[in-house]
Amino acid sequence: MRRRIATFDDLRDAIMAYRLPRVLIAALELNLFTAIGTDAWTVPELARDVKVSERGLAILCRNLAMAGVLKKKGEIYTNSRLGATALNAHHPAYRGDYLQLITSHWADWGRLLESVRSGLPLDHDEPEEPDYRRRFTWAMHHRTLETAPKMAAQIDLRTARTLLDLGGGPGTYAMAFLAKNPTLRATVCDRPEALAVAKEIASTHKAGARLSFLPLDMMTEAIPGTYDVIWYSNVLHIYSPKDNQAVFRRALASLNPGGRLLIQDAFLHDRNGLFPEEASLFAVSMLLFTEKGNTYSAAETRAWLADAGFERIKVLRMKKGTEDWEGGILEARSPGTNEKTRVRRIGSVRSSRSRSSH
Ligand SMILES: C[S@@+](CC[C@H](N)C(=O)[O-])C[C@H]1O[C@@H](n2cnc3c(N)ncnc32)[C@H](O)[C@@H]1O
Repeated sequence: MRRRIATFDDLRDAIMAYRLPRVLIAALELNLFTAIGTDAWTVPELARDVKVSERGLAILCRNLAMAGVLKKKGEIYTNSRLGATALNAHHPAYRGDYLQLITSHWADWGRLLESVRSGLPLDHDEPEEPDYRRRFTWAMHHRTLETAPKMAAQIDLRTARTLLDLGGGPGTYAMAFLAKNPTLRATVCDRPEALAVAKEIASTHKAGARLSFLPLDMMTEAIPGTYDVIWYSNVLHIYSPKDNQAVFRRALASLNPGGRLLIQDAFLHDRNGLFPEEASLFAVSMLLFTEKGNTYSAAETRAWLADAGFERIKVLRMKKGTEDWEGGILEARSPGTNEKTRVRRIGSVRSSRSRSSH
């Protein structure tokens, strides 16, 4: 989406867009969708149940129905399909940890100027308290559980035998790749607290038997083992260009000849590095929450990959509406067997020529 603010009215509309998000967050903070569940409610009944004023709830519910997340018939309110499932803590499709994460950002974004002034994150860089990391990892699972299978359906891994999900968190992507590719084996690499969540999730899937777990600090440690594919998803934006370049070199060292590094991130795709809008806005989150994170253009990331020694770098486009971020993912290959053989052959031709000339 490209937003253009040219007139005062455009500006007013852009600023006042805070209203609906605030209404939605208030409803989530009240656990309203869970309280409504599968029942039909009048406002006075519901107000008694969730212990708020009738006047406040009437205005809140009317706006939720206007937005489509509740249904209103006369004086009766019921949940929409979304409200009854992903927003309802009693439903198996509940995505509560991700909702909790994004709604908690409201207060953080209110402090944006602090980070603009200091250039530093608000409180800390990716807090390491085990409980935070655990909840964050579940949030990542709730974020991508619908997208991952759609991505896995479009990425051809038929010739791959081994995949490393580097910074894989809950392993949601690794699980989706395993489910789609029955002969593939995968390893999810992350911090121990994240891996505990990944193990819990994998234990509920048949394909989870083909997933192993690698605790590692990828910023300081070499990657053990070799792989046909390395999936580096939503980690690039946490780190500086220099840190990412170091990871690329480690990744190349652990790829089999001709192996692929696949990078999914909020890439900027236009010449001036402004769009998609979501990729520019996501950089604000990185300013608020990380020491050195940012969002990067696909072009600069390609240059870092080439510099690290990767070849045949290209953008893989996904079907619109099926991807994590608009604009596709980056694929880069380690020099392949053919290339290595070619280099060896040229080398041996050269050396036999030089031998014959002596
Ligand atoms: C935003 S999450 C992305 C999770 C998953 N790859 C996805 O796309 O949904 C970033 C992940 O990278 C992991 N991570 C960040 N820095 C790391 C490091 N230095 N070593 C290992 N894992 C790291 C975090 O623990 C977290 O699970």
